[in-house]
Amino acid sequence: MASFLSSLLLLLLFLFPLFADSLNQTSVLLSLKQSFSSSNSSTLQTWNPSKPLCSWAGVSCDENKTHILKLDISNSNISGPVPPSFSGLITKISTLVHLNISNNQFNGTLDWNFTSLVELQVFDAYNNNFFGSLPLGVTHLPKLRHLDLGGNYFSGSIPASYSEFRELSYLSLAGNSLGGFIPPQLGNVTSLKQLYLGYFNSFNGRIPTELGNLINLLHLDLSNCGLEGEIPRELGNLKNLDTLYLQTNQLIGTIPPELGNLSSLKILDLSNNALTGEIPREFSQLRELNFLYLFINRFHGEIPGFVAELPYLEGLKLSAKMRMVAHWPLS
Ligand SMILES: *[C@@H]1O[C@H](CO)[C@@H](O)[C@H](O)[C@H]1NC(C)=O
Ligand SMILES: *[C@@H]1O[C@H](CO)[C@@H](O)[C@H](O)[C@H]1NC(C)=O
Ligand SMILES: *[C@@H]1O[C@H](CO)[C@@H](O)[C@H](O)[C@H]1NC(C)=O
Ligand SMILES: *[C@@H]1O[C@H](CO)[C@@H](O)[C@H](O)[C@H]1NC(C)=O
Ligand SMILES: *[C@@H]1O[C@H](CO)[C@@H](O)[C@H](O)[C@H]1NC(C)=O
Ligand SMILES: *[C@@H]1O[C@H](CO)[C@@H](O)[C@H](O)[C@H]1NC(C)=O
Ligand SMILES: *[C@@H]1O[C@H](CO)[C@@H](O)[C@H](O)[C@H]1NC(C)=O
Ligand SMILES: *[C@@H]1O[C@H](CO)[C@@H](O)[C@H](O)[C@H]1NC(C)=O
Ligand SMILES: *[C@@H]1O[C@H](CO)[C@@H](O)[C@H](O)[C@H]1NC(C)=O
Repeated sequence: MASFLSSLLLLLLFLFPLFADSLNQTSVLLSLKQSFSSSNSSTLQTWNPSKPLCSWAGVSCDENKTHILKLDISNSNISGPVPPSFSGLITKISTLVHLNISNNQFNGTLDWNFTSLVELQVFDAYNNNFFGSLPLGVTHLPKLRHLDLGGNYFSGSIPASYSEFRELSYLSLAGNSLGGFIPPQLGNVTSLKQLYLGYFNSFNGRIPTELGNLINLLHLDLSNCGLEGEIPRELGNLKNLDTLYLQTNQLIGTIPPELGNLSSLKILDLSNNALTGEIPREFSQLRELNFLYLFINRFHGEIPGFVAELPYLEGLKLSAKMRMVAHWPLS
């Protein structure tokens, strides 16, 4: 039976180029389903040729129901390596705008040929078991704005070519096994609004000063990923930033006063590093701050009085060594 299925699949693969013009998406998805035949997925159970393609779970089409725009097989309990047929076929649905395969147990590499996916804007592969190098082909997707490769086992370094994204506003590589230096070229991707590189990754060296060029950033998460050296004062250029997570690294030196220029900041977590000195006076400008976490560092001195006057502060954890001299409103 299995060999019959795989022969059928091979046949479909072989014949596929003949269909390519008319783009028989039904047969593409049926082949995909077959290539996952070992899985017990309620999503895939609705993929039945007797029903219209656009009514299948996870499939969304254009208004005329002629082209697949969105394929969401997230949370579908699909396990095992991504068969070559999957990448081969998926990358032929050239109208695809949104591909979500997150929260499954796919494994193998993701080194697909993405060339045909010229319309793809969203690719979410979060929380699978992919391994090997980060895929290179994704940088050539001209409309890509959301790329989540987090929560996998990708290793090696972040390719310098990840600076070539043009429209990308969301990039997560968090929770992998990445190493090497964070490429300074990432600072060229000025369309980025959210950047997540932390957790389980273990980078060498410092936070690149070039990340201070990412002037549209709202969220920057570089926590718990082995970073050393000082916090670059260039991060003070990120005027729109509302969340900055740098906790649980080996950061040293004093807090750059330039961080006081981050007037939109709501959450600042620098805890669990080896930072020294005092809280900069300039932090009195952080009027939007909700959470300030500085504990487990080597700060000294007094907690400046202005901290008590930050209007929206809800959470504050400082260091045991700091003396509290300010009048403190207990709320
Ligand atoms: C597309 O493929 C399905 C399933 O293989 C088949 O039933 C259908 O006739 C094909 N449609 C076209 C237009 O070729
Ligand atoms: C997921 O699939 C496995 C078999 O592959 C099955 O044992 C398990 O019950 C499934 N879980 C859910 C939530 O469907
Ligand atoms: C598939 O999953 C359903 C629940 O979603 C379960 O009832 C059924 O026994 C499972 N079948 C196999 C073969 O694991
Ligand atoms: C849907 O069909 C109409 C009429 O054929 C056409 O004008 C329109 O452009 C089509 N829309 C899409 C998204 O293909
Ligand atoms: C992908 O699916 C997951 C879970 O179903 C969802 O939480 C996530 O927001 C989706 N990703 C995108 C980019 O929409
Ligand atoms: C991929 O996943 C399948 C099914 O869970 C498993 O049997 C196989 O060992 C995994 N392969 C690798 C290389 O991890
Ligand atoms: C990807 O596919 C295109 C054609 O669709 C081909 O021209 C290109 O060489 C392929 N790239 C790789 C790296 O295989
Ligand atoms: C990208 O960044 C590098 C180093 O940060 C810089 O030297 C280079 O000129 C930039 N390239 C482009 C195309 O902006
Ligand atoms: C940022 O902060 C530094 C030190 O606090 C200050 O000298 C500088 O003028 C500020 N820059 C801008 C652009 O606000």
